[in-house]
Amino acid sequence: MHICFELSGENDTLPAAEVYASLSAEEIRYRVIRRYPRVVIVNIDKNNLTKLQLLAQRLSMTHRIYQVITTSTPEKQAVLDAINRTDLSHFIKQGQTYCVRVHRLGRSPLIKTPQVLEPEIGEIVYRYGVKANLQTPEVCFKLLLTSKMAIFGILLHRINRSSFEERKPKNKPFFYPGVLMPRISRVLINLCEIKKNELLLDPFCGTAGILVEAGLLDVNVIGSDIQWKIVSGAKMNLEYYLEKYTFMYQDAAHLALKDESVDAVITDPPYGRSTRIKSVETKKLIEDAVKEMWRVLKKGRKAGIVYKEKIDGLIIGAGFSIVEYHKERVHKSLTRHLYIIKKE
Ligand SMILES: C[S@@+](CC[C@H](N)C(=O)[O-])C[C@H]1O[C@@H](n2cnc3c(N)ncnc32)[C@H](O)[C@@H]1O
Repeated sequence: MHICFELSGENDTLPAAEVYASLSAEEIRYRVIRRYPRVVIVNIDKNNLTKLQLLAQRLSMTHRIYQVITTSTPEKQAVLDAINRTDLSHFIKQGQTYCVRVHRLGRSPLIKTPQVLEPEIGEIVYRYGVKANLQTPEVCFKLLLTSKMAIFGILLHRINRSSFEERKPKNKPFFYPGVLMPRISRVLINLCEIKKNELLLDPFCGTAGILVEAGLLDVNVIGSDIQWKIVSGAKMNLEYYLEKYTFMYQDAAHLALKDESVDAVITDPPYGRSTRIKSVETKKLIEDAVKEMWRVLKKGRKAGIVYKEKIDGLIIGAGFSIVEYHKERVHKSLTRHLYIIKKE
């Protein structure tokens, strides 16, 4: 069965990478069929259909998830022919209500006014003895138009992206500027393939943004920081969003944790710009902290680290291998470098 993920356009590489990692984290075997800038189509076993609900709760850089019915070139007649040839009775039953929506992703010059297709496709569906309902349809048919392909499917899940907006740093009980946005924190968590009830550590936790996003997925979280005023603020945020968490006041370069005791480490260490540093100079601190990350992480598991510049040498020097690398442009003087690293 082919499943289509409609990706957000906020980053070139992160949305698709998040989909692949989340499928793996939920143990859904998949094969990539197509990859366009705003769309990924994968093949999964139909027994895993219900598990897609778990992905809808996890993903932060996907808008919607569809089951693909048919595809064609992005030309009007080709689209209508493909839908006419398909038996839609597998997707909608007599007496159910439906709507048809057409959505253009990027430029698709072949169909200049895609909305004209909505009533034409609607008429094809109507022949199955079903009734249109544009407000609260039981089945929503969607035609996605990319410049290379038209994808016709039914909507399975809509990702609640506004919940990430509601949790943006300014809306939290404790705030300071320059911290990661919830969607980036969530992407890092997904890229590390951490599962429910596993243990995640953030040794430079600041306002606890990463911990909150992980805790909301029922991951057990441990956070630590070295500034007292941050410690009390982080606790305010953790109390507000989570029922359980562990917090420690400690230096990220000397963690009071056993070897190989955590399932993932995700962190956004100080960049030596605005955050106050209580250990030697920043680079040395990061170097020592990455070694500690390696020590406390279980073998075969992944960690995520974000920094203001490339730190490949330091990561490899600590014993990790780099499995993914992404960039996030924040503003003209800050591009964050996101590493997903593995303890082999
Ligand atoms: C960039 S901020 C983390 C922001 C965090 N991702 C958030 O969402 O708020 C870095 C944090 O590292 C903490 N820090 C600096 N030196 C530290 C050290 N040696 N050990 C532990 N934490 C330290 C700072 O107090 C600061 O809160």
